[in-house]
Amino acid sequence: MRWSQVISWAAVFALTATAAVTTRANAGQGIGAPGPADKPTVDPVKAAAGKNTFVQNCAFCHGLDASGGERGGDLIRSLIVARDRKGEEIGKIVAAGIPAKGMPPFTLTPAQIEELSQFLHQRVAEKASRNAKPINIVVGDAAAGEAYFNGEGGCRACHSPTGDLAHVATRFAPQDLQLRMLFPPRPGAGPPIDSGQRGPAPTQITVTLPGGEQVRGVLVRIDDFAVALKDANGSYRSWTRSPDVKVDVQDPRAAHYALLDKYTDRDIQNLVAYLETLK
Ligand code: HEC
Ligand code: HEC
Repeated sequence: MRWSQVISWAAVFALTATAAVTTRANAGQGIGAPGPADKPTVDPVKAAAGKNTFVQNCAFCHGLDASGGERGGDLIRSLIVARDRKGEEIGKIVAAGIPAKGMPPFTLTPAQIEELSQFLHQRVAEKASRNAKPINIVVGDAAAGEAYFNGEGGCRACHSPTGDLAHVATRFAPQDLQLRMLFPPRPGAGPPIDSGQRGPAPTQITVTLPGGEQVRGVLVRIDDFAVALKDANGSYRSWTRSPDVKVDVQDPRAAHYALLDKYTDRDIQNLVAYLETLK
């Protein structure tokens, strides 16, 4: 079954406007820059170029506005599109096609893929802002979601339905809850949309200096050139990046980025259905 949901892009931007900082990928990604766990903002110029590519290659099956046609499904509600950031998910499908279902492979440049991705994200955003009443995304099986939460998903290691996630479904609408599960908010991502809630957990870093001294604190910023933290006394400290200055970033949300590659669409549906029972 192909399904999925309209994501509230306003919420996406509010929640994930800062960088995903991981030890693996922190090169060039300071807080404030787009990173792997972030949703891209829509670039209207790229989206317009993407629309041309879409009309020429895809509209025949998926409809001129991407909402589906006789030969291809609605891409606005596609979870693949929802998970995509800059074309990495859409690009895989386009390059391979889905021959078994009648979608041919396409040879497009990386730039064209990114533009297509921008066009599709723009369509999702337009649809979301027009839908006063969001479509029902609670379509999973809550019992299966609970089993996944306690078992395979490993969620129990960090969360409890009677602890931090107690009544979580009364705090957030289903689509926000899904979004927070897929992309937990990062510190500095702007005022929380749910004012009055606790702020996102900070990212800790440990900096090891050439002499072996280790300084631990809350990450303030990191990029190719500098790293800065606030230490336990609240003092701001920063260093120029160099091979001698080792930085270990401990983002408490790291497990969630890994989950993006692990859970299936069905797992996500089931988890959302389960989380919705936590009223
Ligand atoms: C000949 C018809 C056809 C063309 C042309 C076509 N598609 Fe598809 N596409 C399909 C079919 C059929 C599926 C699988 C079932 C479905 O999602 O409707 C599919 C699935 C997809 C999916 C996965 C949706 C999901 O959530 O499972 C994406 C993404 C997609 N197409 C993007 C594109 C893009 C981008 C183009 C143009 C470069 C394109 N398609 C061109 C027929 C087509
Ligand atoms: C290694 C620890 C870890 C694991 C495993 C983990 N999470 Fe999280 N999760 C977090 C952290 C950290 C946050 C961000 C919380 C914060 O900033 O206060 C978070 C946020 C969330 C949120 C948003 C809560 C809110 O109030 O905004 C949901 C929902 C959630 N996780 C569900 C899950 C589910 C479902 C799983 C399993 C599939 C899971 N988590 C696995 C650490 C984890």
